[in-house]
Formats: sequence, structure tokens, C-alpha cells
Amino acid sequence: MNHQNSNFFTFIAYTLIILFFTTYSTVEAQQRSTNISLSSSLTPDSTNSSWLSRSGLYAFGFYRRGSGYAVGVFAAGIPEKTVVWTANRDDPPVPSNATLAFIDGKLVLNNPQGENTNIADVSQSISTASMLDSGNFVLYNSVRAIIWQSFDNPTDTILPGQPLVAGKRLVSSFSEADSSSGLFRLEMQKDGNLVSYPLPFADPYAYYATGTYMAGENITLNLDDNGHLYLLNLTGDNIIQNLTAGESSNDGKIYRMTLNADGIFRVYSRTLDPKGNWSVKWYSSADMCAPIGLCGLNGYCIMIDDKADCRCLPGFNFINPQIWSQGCERSFAAVSCNNTKGGNITMSKFENMSWEDESYMVVELPNIDDCERSCFEDCNCEVALYSDGKNCKKQKLPLRYGRRSLGTSQVAFIKVTKEPLALPPKGTEKELRLEIVLIIGASLITFAFMVLTVSGFLIYRNRVWVYKKISEQGHIEVSGDIVLRTFTFAELEEVTNGFREELGRGASGTVYKGIIPYNQKVVAVKKLEKARKCLDWSRGEDEAVLEDWVCDCFEARELGKLVGHEEEVDKRKLERMVKVALWCIQDEPSLRPSMKKVLLMIEGTVDIPTPPSPTSFLSSI
Ligand SMILES: *[C@@H]1O[C@H](CO)[C@@H](O)[C@H](O)[C@H]1NC(C)=O
Ligand SMILES: *[C@@H]1O[C@H](CO)[C@@H](O)[C@H](O)[C@H]1NC(C)=O
Ligand SMILES: *[C@@H]1O[C@H](CO)[C@@H](O)[C@H](O)[C@H]1NC(C)=O
Ligand SMILES: *[C@@H]1O[C@H](CO)[C@@H](O)[C@H](O)[C@H]1NC(C)=O
Repeated sequence: MNHQNSNFFTFIAYTLIILFFTTYSTVEAQQRSTNISLSSSLTPDSTNSSWLSRSGLYAFGFYRRGSGYAVGVFAAGIPEKTVVWTANRDDPPVPSNATLAFIDGKLVLNNPQGENTNIADVSQSISTASMLDSGNFVLYNSVRAIIWQSFDNPTDTILPGQPLVAGKRLVSSFSEADSSSGLFRLEMQKDGNLVSYPLPFADPYAYYATGTYMAGENITLNLDDNGHLYLLNLTGDNIIQNLTAGESSNDGKIYRMTLNADGIFRVYSRTLDPKGNWSVKWYSSADMCAPIGLCGLNGYCIMIDDKADCRCLPGFNFINPQIWSQGCERSFAAVSCNNTKGGNITMSKFENMSWEDESYMVVELPNIDDCERSCFEDCNCEVALYSDGKNCKKQKLPLRYGRRSLGTSQVAFIKVTKEPLALPPKGTEKELRLEIVLIIGASLITFAFMVLTVSGFLIYRNRVWVYKKISEQGHIEVSGDIVLRTFTFAELEEVTNGFREELGRGASGTVYKGIIPYNQKVVAVKKLEKARKCLDWSRGEDEAVLEDWVCDCFEARELGKLVGHEEEVDKRKLERMVKVALWCIQDEPSLRPSMKKVLLMIEGTVDIPTPPSPTSFLSSI
């Protein structure tokens, strides 16, 4: 079949499809004419729920929204009934006994459960109305002049023949299912620039712009029948900028341009084939995190497989995981100045992070570690961004417009408070379970490192001393053998001399670095060397982190290096401790053992399988 023939058959097919719709729709609804009679009215649940355009492609009337109905214009000729305009979009849905009718020259939505509302804000009396095949719903006065049209009052979509004129804007829908106002807008500015902003802000928050701000007052955004999207200079009647090339012929396709709920605007096309669907012809950005504000306060955006994903800062949880834009709230107590001395604070490190710069202080520090320390020691500082190898920007929460991308080399430090560490005492099953719930959520990682550090180093080295010292402070009893006890973070810190105790022969700076990652994130962002070696800690390899070191030594079967030259260490018990610790710090939460299992493992009641090596720390970034 040659090309011409195939075009011919496509034409025949579409003609048949349109014919089918025409016939079918006539049966379904009678109210299809250019002129809508003022005596007709609509109700949601009846055959009179909408007025169709002549071809049956578009309709004005009720469509389903949430638990009720909204009034608008939608594509009636396709199964998905795509909504292209909504009246009073921010009003709640109306029940099924609402009615839409012309009353005293106005088009009124009568809601038995609420107020009556005007669909269109008109100063003159309406004489006739039309639903046009273009998708434009038009109201006329007595001399048949247009007094109002839906094309002049766009919501989130423009159709071919519907210009977005200077001073007008599209506002995204809240979600695909909810057509009320969302987070973003696309504005045809009076200076000729077409710009996207998060609501309600303007400059400097634009995340998209055509850059045509010198083009003058009379610029419009236009979509034509072939999907060509362009900026037109009305005075000169010339194209200022082509956004899409458009197709040479539309082959019976329909087009629309929509500012989507995710802040990106796209040109869609669709054939009238009932089995077809809308396909994206063009989009304003491939960077789905570009629309700032998608993630809400204290969250940040990250691209995963070409999709935007919102995450919360460490120590924060989503207010509503279904609605990212509501942001994140604290899951721990706020960092207070008093805490700084208690040692309940860690610094979390994130590479490639950016957010809105609202810093209260910028310190010039040539060393990135000094920036971390500077924020750590400054009780006003909640987060810090380090950039350009010198600028340490200190800031308070909340954070706005956070995102992680390779586009920035800034490194972020986030101050995180931890609850006091509590190892569960052997209590009743119920108490134990409560303890497990509390601990697993909050301090499994902390616990893991405590097992590693305290058990591995202190218990085996200085166990008698440690227990005596804690006991002297009157908190717990000394018992003959090692029993798990509750002790506070402060107690641990004191007996370990700020966790620097006897880590080895290294300089205290090195040891500090090694011991700090009881916050897993510090570790997670460290670059792991491919070739793992069992490092000799005493040589002070600055980049090494404790976890890598332990893991390397475990894999190399050189656990002895962990405890230095002490000979009396029970190697079997040490190996068990290390294995438990390595299981507890698995990045994949489902791999981590339950607290009960951890207890059994430490007691030696159950066998401990060999833990996988934690290379997955990197894949999680
Ligand atoms: C619609 O009404 C106008 C006058 O109000 C009339 O001129 C026109 O012919 C009517 N169109 C149809 C299709 O009835
Ligand atoms: C309309 O429907 C709602 C329930 O959807 C009902 O509570 C109300 O009484 C109805 N009003 C009228 C006037 O029928
Ligand atoms: C728009 O058209 C007018 C009239 O021809 C012209 O003076 C003006 O320079 C044009 N603007 C641009 C940006 O081309
Ligand atoms: C835009 O595209 C049209 C063809 O669709 C072309 O004639 C015109 O020169 C283009 N204008 C610009 C500014 O690229």
C-alpha cells in the first residue's frame, strides 16, 4: 500500500469514527445545537447533564469530581472525557441534585446544599449560549455579541484557537483527579515573557521562561490545529518564538496544551479512536524537579528514573505522604541550645544539595569540615550549605525548594537530634514490644553503632570498668556477666570520653571522624573505594569511615585489627558482635533484623548468617 492510499484509509477511518460518535451521541443527548435554549437546564445524573457541541467532540455541563460534580468543558467524544475548563474551580463539588439553568439573564448553578453561584461573571444579560466545536463555551447578548467565553478565562489548558493573551495565566490543577487550583502558574506577562512560577510567588522564583521579555506588550501564546505552539507578536503579526515545530497536517488528531499538576506544561495529541489515548508531543522541561515547591517545606526533590521524588530531611516525616507539597514535619524534638552539650546531636551530610538561600550568616572557611563544625557548635544553626570551596552558609529551618541534583556541587549539613539511646531491658513481652517499636523507628542505626563501638570495644576491653563506672553514678547495678541494660546517651558519652575512648592509637581528630557515623547518612554519602582493604586505623586514613573499616576487616577475616593488640579478646564473641552490627546497618530496612532477633543473636541463641557487604550504601544515593 503506498503512502497516499494509507492516508486515504486513515481519512475514511476517522470519518467513520466521527459518524459513529455523531449517531451515538444523538441518541444519548438531544441537546446538540449551536444555540442553547435559555429554557433548558442541566442536572448531573440525567441524560441532560451537558450540552454538546455540534460534532459532539466537546461538551459543557456536569462532570464527576471526587464525591460529587463540577461544571466545565470536557472532551465528550473520547472515553476519558478530558476536562479542559472548569467553572469556579476552587468551589467544592456539588451533589447530584444540583441544577444548572438560565435565571434572569444569568447562568446559575443551584446547589441545594450550598449557595447558588454564577458560572460566568457577566454584566449584560445572556440571550443565547453556544458550545462550539473548538471547545469554546460562549455566551451572547441580545445582539449576538460575545459577552463571555471560556477561552478568555482559561484554567490549566489552552486549545487550538485559544490564545493566552498578555496578562493572563494558566494555573495548574491540584492533581490529575482534582481540578481545583494547584501549585504552579504559567503567565503570559505584559513584557512579552512567558514565565512559570510556583504560586504565589513571582521573581526571582521563575523556573521556566522563554526569555522574550523585550518583545513588547502584545504578545500571545498560541496553539494551532497541528500542535504548533508559538509566541505571536500581534502588532507585527510575526512569530517571536516557536516552542514546538508542529506537524504538517493533523490527520484528524486533536491537540491541547496543559500546565500539569507537576508544574511542567505539555502539548498533547490524540486521535478520536476510542481505544487511543493522549500522547505527549512536547514538554517544557525534562527536569521534573525544576518546578520548585513540588516538595514542600523541609523536603527535597530528587529525580529517580526520570520521575520526581520527594524526600524529607533526616529527622523529618511527611505531613501527608500522598501530598508532597505539604512538606515534612519533625519526628524528633527540635534541636535546642541546651542539647548541644548533651551530645544528642549529629550532623547529616548531603552532597549535591541546594535550597532557597535564607542564610543568616555566611562564613568563609577553606575546609569543609570546619563548616560542619561551625554549624554544629552554633546553636542558631540548623542547616549549612558549603559551596565554592569556601562559603559556609548557615541557615535556620524551615527549608524551601530543596533539591538534590548533579547540577550543584554544594554540600549540605543538617543538624539532627537523637533520642536518648535505650537498650531494652528484659521485661514482659508487651514491654519488650513497645520498646522494640520505639527503638526500631528511631535509633536502630544508633544502636547498631553502639553495639559495634560499645560492645566491640568497650565491653571486650573495659567491661568491668565501664559497668563499675556507670554503677558508681548510681544508675544501674553491676551484675556478674554482661546483661543488656538501659543507659542514656549522656552516660555512654561520659564513660567513653565523648566516644573517643581507646579507639586506638590514632590522633583524636581521626578517631572523632571514625566514630561519628552513628548517623548513617554521614556514611551513606561517603564515596566508597571499589577495592576494599582492611585499613590500619592507626595510620589515620582520613577518608575511611568506621563502618567501611569494620566491614573490610570482617571480609578480610582480620577482626583482630579492630581491637588492636589485646590478646584476651574472645574472637568468636567479637565476630558475633560485628556480624550483628553489620546486619543492623544494612541500608535496606527490610534486611535489618528485629530487635528481638538482635537480642537472640547477641546472646548466641540463634546462628547469625554472614551479612551482605554494605555496598548498597552507594546505590541509595
Ligand atoms: C442561533 O441564533 C441566532 C440568533 O440568535 C440565529 O441567527 C442563528 O441562525 C441560530 N443558529 C442556529 C443553528 O439555530
Ligand atoms: C440533595 O441531596 C443531598 C444528598 O446528596 C440531600 O442531603 C439533600 O436533602 C438533597 N436536597 C434536595 C433539595 O433534594
Ligand atoms: C512586534 O511588531 C511591531 C510592529 O511591527 C514591531 O515594531 C516590534 O518590533 C515587534 N516586536 C518584536 C519583538 O519583534
Ligand atoms: C517558526 O516556525 C515557522 C514554521 O512553523 C517558521 O515559518 C518560522 O520562521 C519560525 N519562526 C521562528 C522565529 O523560528
